Amino acid sequence: MTVSGDLITWSEKFSCGIKLIDDQHKELVELVNEMFNHVTGNDLQEKNYFNRVINDAVAYVKTHFATEEKLMLATKFDGYAEHKKEHDTFVLAVVENIKDYEAGKRLTLSTFTRFLKDWVLSHIALMDKKYFEYFKKVATRKADGKLSINSEDVRNAVEGKS
Ligand code: FEO
Repeated sequence: MTVSGDLITWSEKFSCGIKLIDDQHKELVELVNEMFNHVTGNDLQEKNYFNRVINDAVAYVKTHFATEEKLMLATKFDGYAEHKKEHDTFVLAVVENIKDYEAGKRLTLSTFTRFLKDWVLSHIALMDKKYFEYFKKVATRKADGKLSINSEDVRNAVEGKS
């Protein structure tokens, strides 16, 4: 992943190989970039945009976290507790930021988006990366040619067959 100006460009070196996860990470990157593209410096415009998209953005982040956590739990990934804690801390921080933003505290769309960008980049590079190899080992290539984890893969992982 490279950061050009304020935007993030997806790079395959940040791919874990599991299509579901990679697609969600790409979507997160797009979400951050989309927010950057709405930084205009015009408070009213930015606030209207923020109010329009923030709930869906938070819902998407939560869906992604839930996907990862479900897979980690199902496959008995030993970094689950540490990882979940980081997800939970981030969601709390986002909620606090949103409250501040809505209360008109001196938080701009630009500051908020930079916070998201920094977190997403470092989280994928440091935390998510810890499960990349593990998930790849658990996953199998399915009929569609994509690497994914189904219930049989989970069973094999738990029983130590993968
Ligand atoms: Fe991809 Fe742990 O968030």
